Amino acid sequence: MTRRLVIAVDGPAAAGKGTLAKRLAQALGLPYLDTGLLYRATGRRMIDAGHDPARGPAEEFAASVGLEDLSRTDLRVPEVDRAASLVAAQPAVRRVLVDVQRRFAGEHGAVLDGRDIGTVIFPDAPVKLFITASPRTRATRRWEQLATDPDAPDREDQITRVEREIEARDMADSSRAVAPLRAAGDAVRIETDGLSADEVLAEALRIVARMMR
Ligand code: CDP
Ligand code: CDP
Repeated sequence: MTRRLVIAVDGPAAAGKGTLAKRLAQALGLPYLDTGLLYRATGRRMIDAGHDPARGPAEEFAASVGLEDLSRTDLRVPEVDRAASLVAAQPAVRRVLVDVQRRFAGEHGAVLDGRDIGTVIFPDAPVKLFITASPRTRATRRWEQLATDPDAPDREDQITRVEREIEARDMADSSRAVAPLRAAGDAVRIETDGLSADEVLAEALRIVARMMR
């Protein structure tokens, strides 16, 4: 029997997890799930209903999130970044979303990216990657991804603001009591400062090949 191939891709905000995970999934013919979108969709639904994401009945909103929510185009905005991190710190929310993530990999496996895939969701995943880069690199990547004016004269100041938001979210994600952001003991780290997305994919494919031998 072949081993079900689950690839866990974890790491801090804007490290390039999604970009890598999507490409890996494509290269290996596996389904791909961006698990951050589950927390974002929960936060989005709470904001839309007029609730405070830190205090409202977040688990009820999490329970109503389905895969169809994940294609919403209003999930990658700053207020939802914060709301996602706030609902993600609540144990009841995480309990509700565990099943969706485990079922997604089904019998055939999947590539999932998030914060706790290798530590909590699939602790037995045969391949675990932890993707990192310096806060400045990550802020620059996120800014370039979202910038409406790539030649803005206050580019560096804008990047500094993104960097502060990213660091605040990393701090919240790493210090929460439940499923904090951290590399699994058996994860392979890829430091991506100075690497292109293609170079990161090539390195990840080498790691997958080595670990599946
Ligand atoms: O794309 P980015 O790295 O900025 O964030 P994301 O992956 O979309 O995740 C948004 C937020 O959801 C994170 O800041 C975490 O608080 C939370 N999250 C989590 O707790 N566990 C996961 N597996 C994925 C996301
Ligand atoms: O999912 P996560 O928040 O970790 O990051 P992402 O949304 O996949 O990547 C953020 C941006 O960094 C994207 O625009 C990528 O094209 C870019 N990027 C990358 O993912 N990997 C590199 N080595 C360099 C840039």
